[in-house]
Amino acid sequence: MTTPAADGDSGAELPESLIPTLAGYTYTDPSVFALEQERIFEQMWFCAVRGADLPKPGDFRTVQVGRESVLVTRSRDGVLRAFLNICRHRGARLCTEETGSVKRNFQCPYHAWTYGLDGKLVAAPNLTSMPDIDRTEYGLKPVHLREWLGYAWLCLAQEPPSFADTVQADVVQRLGSLEAIDNYEVEDLELGRRITYDVKANWKLIIENFMECYHCATIHPELTEVLPEFADGYAAQFFVGHGAEFGEDVSGFTVDGSEGFDRLGGVESDQDRKYYAITVRPQVFINLVPDHVILHRMFPLSEDRTIVECDWLYSKDVVASGRDVSRSVELFHRVNQQDFDACERCQPAMSSRAYADGGVLVPSEHHIGEFHEWVQTTLAQTKDGER
Ligand code: FES
Ligand code: FE
Repeated sequence: MTTPAADGDSGAELPESLIPTLAGYTYTDPSVFALEQERIFEQMWFCAVRGADLPKPGDFRTVQVGRESVLVTRSRDGVLRAFLNICRHRGARLCTEETGSVKRNFQCPYHAWTYGLDGKLVAAPNLTSMPDIDRTEYGLKPVHLREWLGYAWLCLAQEPPSFADTVQADVVQRLGSLEAIDNYEVEDLELGRRITYDVKANWKLIIENFMECYHCATIHPELTEVLPEFADGYAAQFFVGHGAEFGEDVSGFTVDGSEGFDRLGGVESDQDRKYYAITVRPQVFINLVPDHVILHRMFPLSEDRTIVECDWLYSKDVVASGRDVSRSVELFHRVNQQDFDACERCQPAMSSRAYADGGVLVPSEHHIGEFHEWVQTTLAQTKDGER
């Protein structure tokens, strides 16, 4: 993967204000996407499932992580576990549904090998006549799972990277400390609303868009009403610990600036009336406002298609009381639609000859260059970490 600056064949020297983006083909080439699947999504912690979506033993969800289908389920002991969604007999996909619930086990629809909720092989036709088969050895292949912020984060790597040095480090780098997010008590919040977006764009376009606010004045009229500093194209994600202040006449983070709900449990006064956006590589956005949290999980399916699941999380009291969350949902739903429309507008252009050498980043977008560098460095690494 090269940029005009890196390969030097694009000719023109860039003025100081501009730095290059990645080249167009990196957003359209299936072989680049395959490498990203292998070296990014199958190596890093991947935020997959909200734990509360699987409240009882046997509840399950299947998710696409890199090139693998992963089955996440709650075992009899109440613990969330994840497995490759592949039967150990002849490789049939075990669960074809995206969500569901089984009573006590998963049975393969091909020859009926049957696995317990802990992944162990518990039954198969004629299994008793094959006493040499070790039921753990021929159980489902486990996938690393870690719960944080109420979500199951999965890692397909043999040796997962340190959670603290990757996922949590991204949060600390943005907020200045882990306590700053702990104050929102995200793991105790409840789902008020979920909207799933099927975005016809490469996952990197969605990340790049989330990282800058140069576009805010043009495409986010409602958001810039609530957060006036965003109208200046301000790089809110760039300054450690900085939260964007609500406008003077704004009462809450809602589509019309009307009042929201009580401040979440531990939110400090210096976090009140502020919005914080965090990008957790490679596929999560966390948005913090005093009375709710909005968390996006991206599921990159191909070089030009990404499913985004967006959760709006509120205090238990707000959800239990049935209070109307629609004004706060509507604000970020519009932001999402505006952002994803922009990404979809860029995607077809990535394969144009006009973009063969990529585009440029203005100063308030220069930090996106670090993301590009990270992608390039990560893709250049071989499996054992050597470059
Ligand atoms: Fe699953 Fe045969 S492939 S039981
Ligand atoms: Fe935006």
